[in-house]
Amino acid sequence: MEKKLSLGVLVSGSGSNLQSIIDHIEQDRLNAAIAVVISNNPHAYALTRAEKHHIPTAVITHETFSSREEFDRAIADTLDAYAVDLAVMAGFMRILSPHILNRFPQRIMNIHPALLPSFPGLHGQRQALEYGARFSGCTVHFVDAGIDSGPIIIQAVVPVLETDTEDTLSARILREEHRIYPQAIQWYAEGRIQVHNRQVKIIAGGIPDTDGHHNPPLTMTSL
Ligand code: GRF
Repeated sequence: MEKKLSLGVLVSGSGSNLQSIIDHIEQDRLNAAIAVVISNNPHAYALTRAEKHHIPTAVITHETFSSREEFDRAIADTLDAYAVDLAVMAGFMRILSPHILNRFPQRIMNIHPALLPSFPGLHGQRQALEYGARFSGCTVHFVDAGIDSGPIIIQAVVPVLETDTEDTLSARILREEHRIYPQAIQWYAEGRIQVHNRQVKIIAGGIPDTDGHHNPPLTMTSL
């Protein structure tokens, strides 16, 4: 078996996406190993999830650094110390500056709970509801210096129902997040992601499914 992709997962909160990545690894669907989970919030439940699975954790609180540059350097140094190939932001509530992005070019992914470029920033689900969008979803993208603006790897679509609350829509989107994030990471692990300008190409992707709600179509059976 080829070498496993070494992951660093950046979290701030509940860590359900982290859990999905752990579960896909443990079920041999994702050829990766989590080298470290880094949280800027010492109380994040994601840390408990990591500890339950004996994954090393690091808490790097932004308040203890005098500048964004130093905070970002501490994160980048930790990723390097654990020999991380790919960093994945999973509910990480800080914006990364060019200091870290330049050290990890196209080696940092994020997941956003809306169909970018619509509804970037905080509360993507609430923005979609308030706007009256009929569909929303989630997006995995490479991180660049903007807010949720990097090259898009995969998106999944869900309907927005007239009866939805922010909670019910968030739950529907989260179910898809838990499928597309492991998939994007697995494509990365397989070396199948190519980026030209903003366009991402998945080499030897799935059979195009023009009625499907994942694009590109999933090539992994998710949990
Ligand atoms: C997810 O909705 C993700 O898209 C957003 O923050 C939330 C994190 O959830 N960036 P969790 O911590 O993975 O449960």
